[in-house]
Amino acid sequence: MYITIIAATSKDGYIAGTDGDLSWTSKEDKQLLHDYVLKSDVLIMGQVTYPKHTKLGTNDNKLRVVLTHDPKNMQMLSKNTQFVNAPLSDILKDLKSKGYKNALILGGASVYNQAISNKLADTLLISVEPITLGSGLPLYSIPLSNESLTGYKQTSVTPLNLAGTELYQYNLS
Ligand SMILES: NC(=O)c1ccc[n+]([C@@H]2O[C@H](COP(=O)([O-])OP(=O)(O)OC[C@H]3O[C@@H](n4cnc5c(N)ncnc54)[C@H](OP(=O)(O)O)[C@@H]3O)[C@@H](O)[C@H]2O)c1
Repeated sequence: MYITIIAATSKDGYIAGTDGDLSWTSKEDKQLLHDYVLKSDVLIMGQVTYPKHTKLGTNDNKLRVVLTHDPKNMQMLSKNTQFVNAPLSDILKDLKSKGYKNALILGGASVYNQAISNKLADTLLISVEPITLGSGLPLYSIPLSNESLTGYKQTSVTPLNLAGTELYQYNLS
């Protein structure tokens, strides 16, 4: 099973401002996210991200796996959704054994950190928006770079628009 992480960050590495605002992400980043959601057969996210994700539309049959320590008390906001209390590595092994082919990790920070620090994803796709937030929720516990991302290698940087949004791709080396 091929595992991709997708995230949008500010220039200073935040995935959300202090108030959780995501209005600063570009339409090209939203399109990229949409395209990768379409390509995936399972979407994985933390329970804080889940309600925000469902606002983007869930009218498909993809499996959504939502990580939570309290599965029984979660509110189901989309069909074909499982609330799971387990280490991310076990969840991914289970999905692979069930035949899923393309898993997309949608965040938030807690899930990104588990995936990156345990080298669970094959590819990281990080859209960097030309905005400085100054504070908020960082993508990763340390700034992403070739040095901090042990086990990963930056493979490309692609402009997504004329405003300065760039897509950084890292692959497991
Ligand atoms: N810019 C972007 O690309 C992007 C993408 C996604 C999200 N976001 C933003 O990121 C913020 C959310 O990130 P976050 O880190 O606060 O929350 P999150 O990762 O969405 O969810 C965190 C919660 O997930 C549960 N969880 C995580 N790993 C678990 C595990 N292995 N087992 C059981 N439960 C587990 C825990 O829930 P319990 O409380 O049940 O313990 C934890 O509190 C939001 O503001 C969202 O908008 C931004």
